[in-house]
Amino acid sequence: MVTQMKTLEDYKNAYKKSVENPEEFWAEQAGNFTWKQKWDKVLDWNFKEPNIKWFEGGKLNITENCLDRHLEERGDKTAILWVPNEPDADDRKFTYKELYTEVNKFANGLKKKGIKKGDRVIFYMPMIPELAIGMLACARIGAIHSIVFAGFSAQSLADRIIDAQAKMVICSDYNKRGAKNIPVKKVVDDALKMGCDSIDTVVVHKNTGGDIEWNDNIDLYLHDMLDGVEDFCEPEVMDAEDPLFILYTSGSTGKPKGVVHTTGGYMIYTAYTFKNVFQYQEKDIYWCTADIGWITGHSYIVYGPLLEGATTMMFEGVPTYPDAGRFWEIVEKYKVNQFYTAPTAIRALMAQGNEYVDKYDLSSLKVLGTVGEPINDEAWYWYYDVVGKRSKPIVDTWWQTETGGILISPLPCITDMRPTYASYPLPGVQPILVDPEGNLIEENGVEGLLCIKYPWPGMLRTTWGDHERCRQTYFSAFPDLYFTGDGARRDEDGRYRIIGRVDDVLNVSGHRIGTAEVENAINTAPGVVESAVVGYPHDIKGQGIYAFVITKGQVDDENAFKKQIIDMVRVEIGPIAKPDIIQLVPGLPKTRSGKIMRRILRKIASGDMSNVGDISTLLNPEVVEEIKKSAPTL
Ligand code: WTA
Repeated sequence: MVTQMKTLEDYKNAYKKSVENPEEFWAEQAGNFTWKQKWDKVLDWNFKEPNIKWFEGGKLNITENCLDRHLEERGDKTAILWVPNEPDADDRKFTYKELYTEVNKFANGLKKKGIKKGDRVIFYMPMIPELAIGMLACARIGAIHSIVFAGFSAQSLADRIIDAQAKMVICSDYNKRGAKNIPVKKVVDDALKMGCDSIDTVVVHKNTGGDIEWNDNIDLYLHDMLDGVEDFCEPEVMDAEDPLFILYTSGSTGKPKGVVHTTGGYMIYTAYTFKNVFQYQEKDIYWCTADIGWITGHSYIVYGPLLEGATTMMFEGVPTYPDAGRFWEIVEKYKVNQFYTAPTAIRALMAQGNEYVDKYDLSSLKVLGTVGEPINDEAWYWYYDVVGKRSKPIVDTWWQTETGGILISPLPCITDMRPTYASYPLPGVQPILVDPEGNLIEENGVEGLLCIKYPWPGMLRTTWGDHERCRQTYFSAFPDLYFTGDGARRDEDGRYRIIGRVDDVLNVSGHRIGTAEVENAINTAPGVVESAVVGYPHDIKGQGIYAFVITKGQVDDENAFKKQIIDMVRVEIGPIAKPDIIQLVPGLPKTRSGKIMRRILRKIASGDMSNVGDISTLLNPEVVEEIKKSAPTL
């Protein structure tokens, strides 16, 4: 088990050591795990190519660390506690022993179907235990899992299958989410019609038993795959730098890219940050409400907690079903100790009123966490006052898909809290602020672009199939620095507050969406000439999506036309990316080199018409006035 800091002194010492002697610091943590062979070298790196290698030559299997090594001491402890969508349905519990057996069987099932080390397996599944079991089964045999959030469209799923050249898709028949019953297998069927030739098998978990189409050549029920398999599977020997998973995420240009995380460093980093940020104790019940389709679910529902032998809860449903008290009902029922959610959920529940919270006994809570987007003052105080009764520390954890784990966060009851500040870097993390020219900003009480100047074990290594894209995206803006894409403020005492993305990436309800992706989808709709998408402040979602669209000639039925656009975005990306506001415009403000001036559009979208800034360098300044005139009043 990794070291747990208990006092401010511990944090200061750990931080100091991690900066002065990072290799020794991380080697010490690495020594707490099961290795089949010790590493040759702790760290080899440069941010130019980039080339980042932690614990190279070390041999291990992450599932031995998540499962096998806990069997003796906590084999009968609940590893996964699954809470169903329907409040009156039965929950499911897997002890470490049971989870171990399920993972071994699933791994043998995958092997039987010809999946081997290095193959890519895509999951398109709801929040059910089979998803966690399946990903661990991949890790057991060295297959690379890539989980696609089950809200993405068939087109998005197909894009990811093709990019990863996956051999297998694992899905359910249907998903239950709130009052909805979502036809998951149908989306997979549609995706496979879009040129996913690499797929040999679609494994279907019978979740609801609803009707699905069946293709004997490719479809296989999970229970049939597992029929008669042995319950032990020898863990594949992996190099510390062998890929563990690919997770697709949006950037400012083009299609989503596959962020690649490797085995050893990711393992150490997620375990260390889980144990410390949540101050997990052996008997605690820990609950992260994220979906496993996002990085938060990977690192802080599955890997981090299981590595530390925790009881981790998995919730199938949504915060507002059957009503806005669902989270708190679950906290009371299972006596949850650590609760980790997103600002967008907090804001949505806050809007429903305090009575949904006050009905329940939340005294089991020890730590409240938030992640995914900037938390505003009002939401922070509501979480602190109403949920935490002013006595529970809030950890505002800042990190990214690319960082693998939390980089900046308070440590509960150890470091101080300042509302809306992610505050201090965790041990091993060396954040800096630079100005747009890349000059280091040394003073405090300033804003700048957030970069990290030294590698940490959980960071991405590459983007799947395109290392140059990784270099371009993260390591080229400023030499020898990892650029996060976020702007941040550093206060007088060195605490960081994340302001938000400074690139063309939106954060809608905590989901990352590239403006270019949405624009490409909109431009595919009939009658559209060009579009520009920007974010605007939204009370619940944090950011809403505002699309400015140039049409071919006059549009007869504006509502029908806008609906077509929205449908196109649903089809191309998924409902999470659909525009909240569409404004039809005669033109878009452009520079002389033809670049859209998004700064101006952002101002208009936020309703701040009076101050759009300098437009004298525009090719078509007159269009600004026209857009302003026809902007809807929010
Ligand atoms: C934003 C989610 C403010 C940020 C783990 C980052 C945050 C992006 C916070 C990554 C936070 C994440 N405060 N902003 N505590 N946490 N973000 O890849 O803009 O889905 O770059 O990873 O979310 O989103 P991603």
